[in-house]
Amino acid sequence: MWNGSPRSVTSHETVAYENSFLVAGKTFKNAGKVSRQIKTLLQKMKFPKEVVRRAAIVTYEAEINICSYAERGRIVLRVKPKEISIEATDEGQGIADIELAMKEGYSTATPRIVHMGFGAGMGLANIKRFSDVFRITSEVGKGTHLEMIIHV
Ligand SMILES: Nc1ncnc2c1ncn2[C@@H]1O[C@H](COP(=O)(O)OP(=O)(O)O)[C@@H](O)[C@H]1O
Ligand SMILES: [Mg+2]
Repeated sequence: MWNGSPRSVTSHETVAYENSFLVAGKTFKNAGKVSRQIKTLLQKMKFPKEVVRRAAIVTYEAEINICSYAERGRIVLRVKPKEISIEATDEGQGIADIELAMKEGYSTATPRIVHMGFGAGMGLANIKRFSDVFRITSEVGKGTHLEMIIHV
């Protein structure tokens, strides 16, 4: 789902391209759509295959977590001269123990989420693995914020 219009800036040191995408929470109806859109955009911008692949993986995992656990969220793509920044912000239950949530295989996925083919507990671990910079903050009952940077 597109939200807002893409912005192009010609200034050399700031953002070259920015776009924001809404992600519906607690539903898998459009799961994966935003990460596909972002992947297509980056392919059109002619980034190396490996960069596109890593950006697509981290965006996909962040998106699926919003679909799984949050009420609603937003993913912002910023393309800068030397990096791709992907920010995922959601309103939702938040994460009480981030260190635990980051562990490979740890998941609180419900049977419904598992039935949809998600909930292997690898999402956050893979986001960390495929990002050059990964920051996560969360507040229980408020929401979660992820920042992923991939150097180009
Ligand atoms: N955006 C989020 N909001 C609330 N909880 C989250 C969010 N993302 C991850 N979590 C919590 O962290 C756990 C681990 O996430 P992840 O590594 O993506 O594995 P999975 O989604 O397969 O459970 C989830 O099971 C959930 O408890
Ligand atoms: Mg996940």
